[in-house]
Amino acid sequence: MEIEKWLKTDWIGQTICCLESVDSTNLQAKRMAEEGALEGTLVVANEQTAGRGRRGRSWVSPPGTNLYFTILLRPRLAPDKAAMLTLVMAMAVAKGIRRILQTPDGRQPLTTDDGKTGVGIKWPNDVVIDGRKVCGILTELNLSTGQNCIDSLLIGTGINVALQDFPEELKGHAIALEELAGRKLERGELLNAVLTAFEGYYGDFLLTRDLTGIKEEYDALLVNMGRMVRVLDPKGEYEGIARGIQNTGELIVELPDGERRIVYAGEVSVRGIYGYA
Ligand code: BTN
Repeated sequence: MEIEKWLKTDWIGQTICCLESVDSTNLQAKRMAEEGALEGTLVVANEQTAGRGRRGRSWVSPPGTNLYFTILLRPRLAPDKAAMLTLVMAMAVAKGIRRILQTPDGRQPLTTDDGKTGVGIKWPNDVVIDGRKVCGILTELNLSTGQNCIDSLLIGTGINVALQDFPEELKGHAIALEELAGRKLERGELLNAVLTAFEGYYGDFLLTRDLTGIKEEYDALLVNMGRMVRVLDPKGEYEGIARGIQNTGELIVELPDGERRIVYAGEVSVRGIYGYA
């Protein structure tokens, strides 16, 4: 993969580690962080042999088909604030995908019947198109020893670019971008579009150290916005209408009696009542 020639970013990717094959770009970035790698270091691989997903799952990462990358950040942030950056990356992926799929005359081929863009976010950070997942994001932390602060933060992103056989459990709710676009896509170009968008949103994030400046745009991308969702809380499932996120990234769900509950990522899953999204 020729990455350097595509990257037009300001600061992400000043150091690039581009590998043919690696266990996991997150693990590689973690190792590099421990050796002092700088903020903005980018790890990209053509294949992962032990790709990691959320909740201990694996992320199928065959060679030559998809995009697997991790960026290393060193924000001065309490560890419990790190999850917000996963939402920031989800927005950047959505924007990058929209950019790369748009036609030369600026049209968005993926629009829904009501004229909205077909690229959205299923809270907190799955990027979906027509209800099917195209991207997964896994954020991991190295903590400073003896202190309650982040030493480095690794945002790992996998985007399904080319057609592939999805594992059985993903069939039906995963999709690859080339299948939608009906043409071959350049992974380097997509990566550049995503990272450029990330630099913009991360700049907004740093102004307030929360999502205040980008919340409105996030809510506009939220596929469940104003729709009934089921919250799979281990303490008891419930349904309500998704009312967008708080400035700190939690989902607001309104119950039938008007009570508003705050849903924290990591503890629960949220599903559309008619399926995955
Ligand atoms: C999910 O379960 O939805 C998150 C998947 C995250 C996959 C990416 S691929 C690049 C990076 N390296 C990994 O091992 N995982 C993340």
